[in-house]
Amino acid sequence: MLVEALRRDRDLTDAQFRTLLETDQYDEKLRTAADAVRRETYGQAVYLRGLIEFTNYCKNDCLYCGIRRSNTAASRYRLTQEEILACCREGHALGFRTFVLQGGEDPYWTDERICSVVSQIHREFPDCAITLSIGEKSHESYLAYFEAGAERYLLRHETADAAHYAMLHPSDMDCANRQRCLFDLKEIGYQVGAGLMVGSPFQTTDCLIADIRFLQSLQPDMIGIGPFLSHKDTPFRDKPNGSLTLTLRLLAILRLLFPKVLLPATTALGTLHPMGRELGLQHGANVVMPNLSPVGVRDKYLLYDNKICTGDESAQCRHCLEQRVKSAGYEVVCSRGDALTKQ
Ligand code: 5AD
Ligand code: FES
Repeated sequence: MLVEALRRDRDLTDAQFRTLLETDQYDEKLRTAADAVRRETYGQAVYLRGLIEFTNYCKNDCLYCGIRRSNTAASRYRLTQEEILACCREGHALGFRTFVLQGGEDPYWTDERICSVVSQIHREFPDCAITLSIGEKSHESYLAYFEAGAERYLLRHETADAAHYAMLHPSDMDCANRQRCLFDLKEIGYQVGAGLMVGSPFQTTDCLIADIRFLQSLQPDMIGIGPFLSHKDTPFRDKPNGSLTLTLRLLAILRLLFPKVLLPATTALGTLHPMGRELGLQHGANVVMPNLSPVGVRDKYLLYDNKICTGDESAQCRHCLEQRVKSAGYEVVCSRGDALTKQ
């Protein structure tokens, strides 16, 4: 009943969400319904995004994150503009039509430098979408990147519960500003991705229900969710990893709530379980993000321990994921893969 109601009404009461999130009796129904809705909306298509991790310098100190500024054990790097462009060239030849530039909040990368690299990519690859994932900025900065040619922006809200947010971040970061960023991005016209870690320390079912309510008010085009995974050089080194089952359950719920949203099967999910990404696809996910970063820096962009794919060439990653997508019952599509939410 609950799953049918969720599929039909695209909503439930808090109490009903709690039941879905806290019990395992609906898991099989959730998976079947999420897969049916994804096939109705997107067919078998799985979109590719080429991820370029261009700097692991970060001025922030999020307690969960391996590239937090206090982690002196992290070996820092930043790619040059030329190196970023070389990644795009390699990616374009491999069929990628979306490039995601992701990095820590690195003061070296001023708005001017970001705009310069974005407009160069835009000029050289006019058939590609450029996605930025570089953290909290002002409305003015977001507008400048948009005008330079960035059309999409990923900024996970992390948690919509302010008290929980304060347990994951130092006091110089706040939940309200992060949400302000997301609404600014939407208002400017970006395709916007929000998201969260499942099983982050101190997360409760109430937090997840608050996340659902926040996502309903934001109406994002993409939602990135993956399990929390501990990193040995952070204050959360001893915290348990997020659960595979709960991550899959939430993916399926999100697919039913937001039929048109883009949902990645994340690297964190693939790190938690050898078949994590395939399972993610079978629970409603329709995006994979192979790594395009140069092999020499891959093992330095470590947000959590044991990250997969750090030794593979871009072409290997691309083909490995294509095989995995096929084996899960879907088909990789080489197009920009714009969100249907915009149509
Ligand atoms: N485990 C899982 N995901 C993490 N992220 C950061 N640190 C971790 C971790 N330890 C996620 C955050 C961030 C995104 C880029 O990666 O949600 O927004
Ligand atoms: Fe870099 Fe959190 S440590 S954004």
